[in-house]
Amino acid sequence: MKLLILNGPNLNLLGKREPEIYGLETFEDYFRKLQLKYKNVELDYFQSNSEGAIIDKLHEVGFSYDGIVLNAGAYTHTSVAIADAISGITTPVVEVHISNVHQRETFRHHSFLSAVCKGVILGFGLKSYDLGVESFL
Ligand code: DQA
Repeated sequence: MKLLILNGPNLNLLGKREPEIYGLETFEDYFRKLQLKYKNVELDYFQSNSEGAIIDKLHEVGFSYDGIVLNAGAYTHTSVAIADAISGITTPVVEVHISNVHQRETFRHHSFLSAVCKGVILGFGLKSYDLGVESFL
């Protein structure tokens, strides 16, 4: 089983960024824990602040990996291009969010990605990624 965790813009700042919303743990620390927990899963991780790089990564892994756990950050609410990339690949994608976006500003309530993803997990803090990985097992 080969899975990719794909993080979008500003998620490189986890641990420092708005800790009251996103927590104090860095993603690198959390990812190491995930790798230890899911020893039988080949878990890769990629983060980019740029929409094009996220799309390129989806194209790169989207015909060979078993699943992608995607937190597209703010691109979730804006990007038809990422939605098209998800539609164009064969690997299933699960959309995750750390925060419960439905408790936040109304512009965060709409996702261009949900309709083309296999499922959506949100609001469980970093554990949302754990549940995203679990969904493929
Ligand atoms: C987020 C929610 C988005 O609205 C926001 O732009 C993010 C993070 C989350 O994980 O809760 O960058 O995707």
